[in-house]
Amino acid sequence: MIETILKAIFIYFPAMASNGAPVFVKRGKPIDLGRVFIDGKRILGDGKTFEGLAVGMIFGTGVGAIYSAALDNPYFVPYAAASSLGALLGDIVGAFIKRRLGIPRGAPAPLLDQLSFFIFANILIKTLSLDTMVGYQIDLAIFVAGAIIVLILHIATNWGAYKLGLKNVPY
Ligand code: CTP
Ligand code: MG
Repeated sequence: MIETILKAIFIYFPAMASNGAPVFVKRGKPIDLGRVFIDGKRILGDGKTFEGLAVGMIFGTGVGAIYSAALDNPYFVPYAAASSLGALLGDIVGAFIKRRLGIPRGAPAPLLDQLSFFIFANILIKTLSLDTMVGYQIDLAIFVAGAIIVLILHIATNWGAYKLGLKNVPY
């Protein structure tokens, strides 16, 4: 149990870093270039920027570079790069779905907001067998533990941001 949790934190940390880092982007160039979809709503919205993608790739892959050096395992660099790319793509897919559902940029979409990045990171990792390559096979238990950790972290960080006065609501 505890081993599964620790493995999940370790193996998903690059994806989580990549997903969290773009919040430091204050204003960037929107990936959809401000364009609207056939439904008249923004394709992605102002919350998905090129700068966010760059920062996410740098942070996520940076974690992999640290793993690689600390554990003397070069495969963690492509592992983390794929985790980051998957996480950022998943986040974009999530925003695309939110806009189609008429949910504005920044408004909450429970589960979709938290898990789109996580699921896409897993798809990329598994498709390229990068977990096996780094020697940490992701099984169902680790995947489920990771999903639960992501949900708990989301609730905890929002609550913390509310307590610090960075957010108006604790969710
Ligand atoms: N961000 C970014 N580029 C990305 C992803 C995120 O610049 N590719 C930044 C944006 O400033 C965004 C913030 O990180 O507002 C938080 O990300 P997220 O919660 O995913 O975006 P939301 O603002 O909630 O927008 P959406 O409803 O489209 O998810
Ligand atoms: Mg959001």
